[in-house]
Amino acid sequence: MKVQFAGIELTSPVIAASGTFGYGIEFEEIISLERIGAFVTKGISLEPIQGHPAPRIIQTAAGMINAIGLQNIGVAEFIEKKLPGLRNYPSCKCIVNVFGYTVGEYKGVVERLNDADGIAAYELNVSCPNVHAGGMAFGSDCGSLEYLVREVKAVAKRPIIVKLSPNVTSIGQMARTCAQSGADAVSLVNTFLAMSIDVETRKPRLTNVTGGLSGPAIKPIAVRMVYEASRAVTIPILGLGGIITAEDAVEFMLAGATAIQVGTASYADPRATERLAKGMESWCRSHHVERVASLTGCVEIPQK
Ligand SMILES: Cc1cc2nc3c(=O)[nH]c(=O)nc-3n(C[C@H](O)[C@H](O)[C@H](O)COP(=O)(O)O)c2cc1C
Repeated sequence: MKVQFAGIELTSPVIAASGTFGYGIEFEEIISLERIGAFVTKGISLEPIQGHPAPRIIQTAAGMINAIGLQNIGVAEFIEKKLPGLRNYPSCKCIVNVFGYTVGEYKGVVERLNDADGIAAYELNVSCPNVHAGGMAFGSDCGSLEYLVREVKAVAKRPIIVKLSPNVTSIGQMARTCAQSGADAVSLVNTFLAMSIDVETRKPRLTNVTGGLSGPAIKPIAVRMVYEASRAVTIPILGLGGIITAEDAVEFMLAGATAIQVGTASYADPRATERLAKGMESWCRSHHVERVASLTGCVEIPQK
């Protein structure tokens, strides 16, 4: 079940996605962390962020819309209070999701994390649809994206994964921009910009008015985007968006993902990541797949 990307070896291709797995340590009593390859922390910023007022998560058909507003404890508290406990699980790699409102803030967070032990890689969130500055502003403009990735890469002592926004016209072009600017890998997709209205009150159901759609509703679009990105770049791709079953995960790998992330599924079933890791192993066994890594990019496109 081992996979490799950006010089990192994972014992399983299953990674818990940012914003759906706390800071990782909260899950130590819920699943066996050693059973999954890695987890990505909630987005961490230079200073703590309060986030948006409730309601900030609502359920939709086959998914949910969230507008958390990047609430987090800030980099100093993460290093001091969360990271030490995580070092007890060395086989479950810790990837820190990094967020800033400016390029300087992204660099500041990475510089603080550089000196801390127990981190495998940084995932830059350039794709949050729920904040007005930073986030998606970087992820939807090639020039800003290139500048950000180059600047962060210059200071980072660990591999950089850039988390792409699906709210763009050409995902291939954004992935190419990241690869050319020095990114070690890309992850996609983040959530799709969405909105829901209560027809009785005629008011938006989220305080922030709009939010990001995730869950099974987005899976076919995410698979298509992973496929397109994989045709545009040679750096590894971490695929996600609506993965619930082992078959979903295999589909993303066939589309071109080296590893997969599981987000919203953990809200419905907090043990989803461990279940997926076991499920993928069983799937490989029953389909006589000796190495899960051999699935990557093996979709068979019929010749026209
Ligand atoms: C409540 C919630 C919070 C999230 N917070 C973050 C975040 O802080 N940083 C980030 O890069 N992605 C964040 N995401 C996006 C997820 O990591 C993932 O990209 C998205 O939900 C699609 O995957 P899924 O359908 O498996 O959930 C968040 C998603 C949800 C549902």
